[in-house]
Amino acid sequence: MRKVVHHSVDKDGFRAQPKGFATKAIHVGQDPEQWSCMAVVPPILMSSTYKQHAPDEHTGFKYSRLRNPTRDVLERCLASLDNAKFGLTFSTGLGAVTALITMLKSGDHIVAERDLYGGSCTAFTKIASKMNISVDFVDFTDLGKVEEIVKPNTKLFWVESPTNPLLKVVDIEAVCKIAHKLPEVVVVVDNTFLSPYFQRPLELGADIVMYSLSKYMNGHSDVIMGAAIMNDETLYQKLQFLQNATGIVPSPFDCYLLNRGLKTLALRMERHRTNALAVAKFLEGHPKVDRVLHPGLPSHPQHALSKKQTYGHSGMVAVFLKGGLDEASVFLQSLRVFTLAESLGGVESLAGSPSRMTFGSFAPEERAAMGIVDGLIRLSVGVEDIDDLLEDLQQALESV
Ligand SMILES: Cc1ncc(COP(=O)(O)O)c(C=O)c1O
Repeated sequence: MRKVVHHSVDKDGFRAQPKGFATKAIHVGQDPEQWSCMAVVPPILMSSTYKQHAPDEHTGFKYSRLRNPTRDVLERCLASLDNAKFGLTFSTGLGAVTALITMLKSGDHIVAERDLYGGSCTAFTKIASKMNISVDFVDFTDLGKVEEIVKPNTKLFWVESPTNPLLKVVDIEAVCKIAHKLPEVVVVVDNTFLSPYFQRPLELGADIVMYSLSKYMNGHSDVIMGAAIMNDETLYQKLQFLQNATGIVPSPFDCYLLNRGLKTLALRMERHRTNALAVAKFLEGHPKVDRVLHPGLPSHPQHALSKKQTYGHSGMVAVFLKGGLDEASVFLQSLRVFTLAESLGGVESLAGSPSRMTFGSFAPEERAAMGIVDGLIRLSVGVEDIDDLLEDLQQALESV
């Protein structure tokens, strides 16, 4: 039986952040005394191999695909941010998805969120399917449908919350309860859009938290990496085996950069939060905007749920401009501070057209079914001065 934890709330009604997050992000795994030179900043250890005292008598490090000291530092720090026991990193977020798929076997079944990141969706439909692993996509906000779609061979639930790009919020605790009625179902939550600063799915009953670390966790748009975080030792051992056996590991240099990025995660996320809410409110009141979706707005369909299960919201905002392709193009090309680019979660503000960029490879009917219309703009609101961001949006909207 899981303990019922009562959370205090912050001034906006979200779960209040307990003390200690920023300290963990700066210190866990970083103890200078672990290095003979007492380096305060963990070194980048590029060595692929390590001297042994005698055959198989070693320091715990043998070959860097298996284990590397710079990666170890990062994995320990990452685990601590989700209050978890174990963390594993992968060369990309999709590498983590691949490793998690390879935990399954032929004949297994996956239940996945319908509004999934396009790359994860492709991994399930084009790669897992070749291994005779079936997948059903379902709207996780419809819990009755979720109950219906579960099969005796269901082994994996794949949740993304908030979803990409429509920011739909899933009741993670309720979905985990359904999943765990079956033995051996593993619930994975892709927590890329919020980071552990704003949402810690293991506290809500999930088994594994998955990240594209390329986004908020690194925060500077200069690393591609992924992670899986968990408490269960058996799952950890399985995944650690797969991390090595599939060879999907990150480089020590990228681990160093990621570790550096984590030190400012709390600071950055606070600024993303305030900037995004100001942007969302500004756009919601603009005559050229039809609708804005952002979990911090009272108008968001799952605003109350967001307040219940998260510690705040990140910089992601979905904006439906009045009009279609032409209006979206003019708007995007008129932006001066926001950069028209894919990806998200960096210090710089980015803007994109999901229908032509991240979901461009989907058939128009598929996009329509997902609600990804041509007037939809996805904003990743960065940490610049808010007045500059609002002025930029205003002048770009005037050009439409
Ligand atoms: C929600 C989400 N999950 C997973 C991924 C894949 O991560 P990566 O690009 O690091 O492989 C992305 C990338 O955009 C993402 O947005």
